[in-house]
Amino acid sequence: MLVDSHGRRHTYLRISLTERCNLRCQYCMPAEGVDLTQNSELLSQSEIMQLARIFVLGGVDKIRLTGGEPSIRPDIEELCEQLRSLPGLRNLAMTSNGIVLSRKLARLQAAGLNQLNISLDTLVPAKFEFLTRRKGHNKVLQSIEAALDLGFSPVKVNTVVMRGLNDDEISNFVRLTQDKPINVRFIEFMPFDGNVWNSKKLVSYIEMLTAVKQQFPGLRRLQDHHTDTAKNFQVPGFKGTVSFITSMTQHFCAGCNRLRLLADGNLKVCLFGPAEVSLRDALRSGIDNVGLQEIIGDAVKRKKPSHAGMFELARTQNRPMIHIGG
Ligand code: GTP
Ligand code: 5AD
Ligand code: SF4
Repeated sequence: MLVDSHGRRHTYLRISLTERCNLRCQYCMPAEGVDLTQNSELLSQSEIMQLARIFVLGGVDKIRLTGGEPSIRPDIEELCEQLRSLPGLRNLAMTSNGIVLSRKLARLQAAGLNQLNISLDTLVPAKFEFLTRRKGHNKVLQSIEAALDLGFSPVKVNTVVMRGLNDDEISNFVRLTQDKPINVRFIEFMPFDGNVWNSKKLVSYIEMLTAVKQQFPGLRRLQDHHTDTAKNFQVPGFKGTVSFITSMTQHFCAGCNRLRLLADGNLKVCLFGPAEVSLRDALRSGIDNVGLQEIIGDAVKRKKPSHAGMFELARTQNRPMIHIGG
């Protein structure tokens, strides 16, 4: 079992499948993009599988595929199939920007993908182009529809709220939950290298909640699972739900059950922790599975009880979000 020194059991692995993306979101990377790791230094499909198997043996029962944009990886369907066949894995999830997803989704679902989060920060096409520095708003909407048609329930829609950019759209996003099993998740803007974070752009949980309650006074709190990143709510009578991911103003590290395997093979035990260890190098040195389990177990043991707080995080070097995958 992957238990840290604070008693947290790690049952959820996020695997970043690529550093590439077909969008250039402002909150994720600088306009010029980021340096890419050489192909030979990225994990191959068989290395991902070897490592995933070890994590699942260690008690991981949920894997989320992230990126960059995971759906652009050429072997994505095969990877899903292989991951899904790992005994003990109960959920295979993906976080996608939805640009090329709609045409692949049925095949991904058949390959075992059963949870889907799609990022969408604005309902206004022109703003989408500004925020993502690319076109494609309609394609994302199509992917959300495709996911609903295929029966993903809920379809989670991730919305990073930034002051002056999309904070005027909160009510419109809530309305998406009226007739459809959509879970809209308003996310506090977080600092990463290259995303020009400042506290003035952050719209806090309390501020967002107040805005929603003003328009939907009946909003009621739902029960959260203790490992949830989200605080969950519902407008009575609405089919879907509304959540807030409050990493900055009310972190949820006490319930953390997540580990991250990056595309270059580094294990990152905390989204905001700079500590990383290369599982790729260990694997390529010919180490056996027991040795790998030890390296992973030791890294988990060193995990800090919580992140350092938003002002400290804004000053600390981390990777750009595009490398971490959320
Ligand atoms: P579920 O598996 O559906 O609970 O989704 P998720 O919230 O874990 O993942 P997703 O990729 O949809 O990320 C949504 C937001 O939550 C992003 O802003 C992530 O960076 C953030 N997030 C995901 N995991 C963590 C975490 O462990 N810690 C913190 N602080 N934020 C996280
Ligand atoms: N702050 C908060 N959320 C972010 N995401 C990407 N960058 C940030 C940031 N700076 C979200 C994306 C995606 C998820 C993986 O992380 O919108 O939905
Ligand atoms: Fe876990 Fe680190 Fe996220 Fe806190 S900030 S919830 S410890 S990954």
